[in-house]
Amino acid sequence: MAVPQSRSVWSRILDVASLAATPLAPSHYLELVSPLRATHTLNARVEAVHDEGDGTRTLTLRPGRGFRSHRAGQYVRVGAAINGRVVTRTFSISSSPDRRDGCIAITVKATPDGKLSRFLVHDVRPGAYLTIAQAQGSFVQPEGAPVRPLFVTAGSGITPVMSMIRTFVARGTMPDAVHVHYARTGETALFATELASVAAAHPRYRYVLVTTREGHGARARFDRAALDALVPDWQSREAWACGPQGMLDAVEACFAAAGRAQHLHLEAFHAKLAPRDAKATGGRVRFGLSRADVEANGQTSLLEVAEAAGIQAAHGCRMGICHSCDVTMVSGCVRDLRTGAEVNEPGIRVQICVHAAAGNVDLAL
Ligand code: FES
Repeated sequence: MAVPQSRSVWSRILDVASLAATPLAPSHYLELVSPLRATHTLNARVEAVHDEGDGTRTLTLRPGRGFRSHRAGQYVRVGAAINGRVVTRTFSISSSPDRRDGCIAITVKATPDGKLSRFLVHDVRPGAYLTIAQAQGSFVQPEGAPVRPLFVTAGSGITPVMSMIRTFVARGTMPDAVHVHYARTGETALFATELASVAAAHPRYRYVLVTTREGHGARARFDRAALDALVPDWQSREAWACGPQGMLDAVEACFAAAGRAQHLHLEAFHAKLAPRDAKATGGRVRFGLSRADVEANGQTSLLEVAEAAGIQAAHGCRMGICHSCDVTMVSGCVRDLRTGAEVNEPGIRVQICVHAAAGNVDLAL
């Protein structure tokens, strides 16, 4: 394929600049004047912010060059420098990949212990730059044959499903879909007005808003009886569920009991951890490549231990899915926080976001 002339010229300018800019790549200098054109890192400019109420905000981001389009339902890692330290977290993309302006939207709820979420909801302004990564995740609609989806969402767990619904609308491919969404009140239900309009315009989409504090009585919580009543044909549907762990556990149990576990797709906010073991001891963690030695307890993930020590460790989902945080364990022992199982094989790759020290451990980080 022919390289566009403008790109070719640009590439040659970068080549020449490389010689003068060593040891920093020209992209580092370019980032100072035009962050979206940097090639050594991926940035995004905040184009707009929209307060959704209830401590939640939608940010419209313009990704820099090199960002590949996402699939509806995927998440993206976003980072910002807060008090001199880069903090990154993942957020589901709430917009459709078919947006014409090349932007993506994330809808973030500020959580009390969420340094980045509070910054994005309360402090960030249009024109600010954030770091991002390529979109990831398998919580997506299947390619090819259409399915009859059932969506079960709660709170801000609606965001990846919102991307799917907006995509159906944008493409004119709305399937026979039922969407049960749980919110505390009608007023705090995210995207309720937009979804009611979608339902009015697309009879194949049924939106069921269940308010947990406004008199839905026995149906206010997810369980088999409530699902039978709200969606009588649910056993003939493929289901996608996203929300707090308690709700996901209930959905999972319901589908497993009905023999439909293979028709359920789950997206959690956090890793599902084993119950805390009060007797779990930590140890001394050696981050060999960073020349750091720190004490760690047996409950805190090695990723958090590294970050607290000022070490920037690569990571993505922070919940044991993407393997971006894998690090070689040179020696020692770690504990899988999801299962409680201990691992002490030297040379093994460890997901540091879901493992903690179980005694002394030496990591190639
Ligand atoms: S950050 Fe994704 S598995 Fe650890």
